[in-house]
Amino acid sequence: MGFSLGQVVPWGRTYAEYARMFALAPSDMAGDILGCGDGPASFNAEATAKGHRVTSCDPLYRYAKDDIARRIDETADVVLDELRKNASAYRWNEFATPEDVGRARLSAMARFLQDYDTGKAHGRYVDAALPALPWPDGRFSLALGSHFLFLYSDHLDTDFHVRAMLELCRVAREVRVFPLTKLDGSPSPHAPAVLDALRLRGHEAEVVPVPYDFQIGAEAMLRIHCAA
Ligand SMILES: C[S@@+](CC[C@H](N)C(=O)[O-])C[C@H]1O[C@@H](n2cnc3c(N)ncnc32)[C@H](O)[C@@H]1O
Repeated sequence: MGFSLGQVVPWGRTYAEYARMFALAPSDMAGDILGCGDGPASFNAEATAKGHRVTSCDPLYRYAKDDIARRIDETADVVLDELRKNASAYRWNEFATPEDVGRARLSAMARFLQDYDTGKAHGRYVDAALPALPWPDGRFSLALGSHFLFLYSDHLDTDFHVRAMLELCRVAREVRVFPLTKLDGSPSPHAPAVLDALRLRGHEAEVVPVPYDFQIGAEAMLRIHCAA
């Protein structure tokens, strides 16, 4: 599948949101972390500032900072309008209003842009895409996938999801993915087949509730202890 900036709607989350989406304990952050599909999230920038070792990969990172910044400017109002229209699909505990979400996302993306060139030079932002990642087996202690797999279930089929999850299990000893729902908050139709495929290969997969309370229906992550 091709990837062009014109198709991307950048919308980045914060470290605090990642911590709740993935129920991250301090011990989880002690190893080498992969953020797969991190896009313009500030997770890497904030984690690095805290002294953690995070590598992010995303096909977005083939683009220059100014191009990504321009795309954020072009799309932010559109995304915020969609959120206002669909406000009843969310619980307003994480954020008080759609405008609060907009402020948090823009500030996260500004933090990402500020860190982008330095992080790229240090190999923290890598242009790579599922289902084929450029790292050796077991390179990471933990791989995190936020708002890419399962979310785009109407665009990416079961086979893609199975191959992507097996690839994450190849490069990491543990994998966590959130959410398990499609864009509309309904359960991904690919999840049962993905769970079967993982278990068939000896990976221990479980659905675990997490303390992130935003989109209705998106309240659990998939956690996989990957077989060696
Ligand atoms: C909705 S954004 C989520 C960004 C970030 N993880 C967050 O939660 O704030 C989805 C991201 O998936 C990335 N993406 C698209 N195709 C991908 C692929 N094949 N492998 C990895 N990431 C991909 C997009 O570029 C985009 O940055």
